[in-house]
Amino acid sequence: MKIKRTLITEQEIERKIKEYGKLISREYEGKNLLLIGILKGSFVFMADLCRAIDIPVRVDFLSASSYYSGISSSGEVKIKLDISQERDLSDTHVIIAEDIIDTGRTLKDISQLLNQRNPLSLKVVTLLDKPSRRAVNFNADWSLFTIPDVFVVGFGLDYDENYRNLPYIAELE
Ligand code: IMP
Ligand code: MG
Repeated sequence: MKIKRTLITEQEIERKIKEYGKLISREYEGKNLLLIGILKGSFVFMADLCRAIDIPVRVDFLSASSYYSGISSSGEVKIKLDISQERDLSDTHVIIAEDIIDTGRTLKDISQLLNQRNPLSLKVVTLLDKPSRRAVNFNADWSLFTIPDVFVVGFGLDYDENYRNLPYIAELE
């Protein structure tokens, strides 16, 4: 598989992340905030987003894998690596950061799971959103870019573990 074209440039991504960093900083001023990145795809987005936030913020990561059978839309998510503050989030506001929302299954499940730990609030920010592919009723609170139904790589997103290091978002051939 080869890169077909650039879909979103490095500059466009940088500008958007700065904008959302400011928005989040204003909304959570004076509040206890934890940013949770979903591995591995969110690691580049997380690095930039947390540096665009100018209020105190803690960061953590979570890794999950989903198993879905056939047409079933209720997912089964399994946490492979949990955040360090596992059980109780009742003193903190949480923002989940994801690379892309496709069918929505992964994040719907992860959100439900984290909600059971009683955070003061729970919101989701995603770098990319493919709304045309949604299989379950789930939407992010903040989507930086809405893209068509094409397979993309770069800025943390992979194809078979490759291309995560591209500093822009590209469409594969
Ligand atoms: P879903 O929303 O549960 O379908 O899964 C979203 C996950 O699928 C993302 O976190 C990515 O790991 C992966 N994914 C979906 N679309 C793409 C894409 O276009 N490129 C790379 N990974 C993708
Ligand atoms: Mg992912």
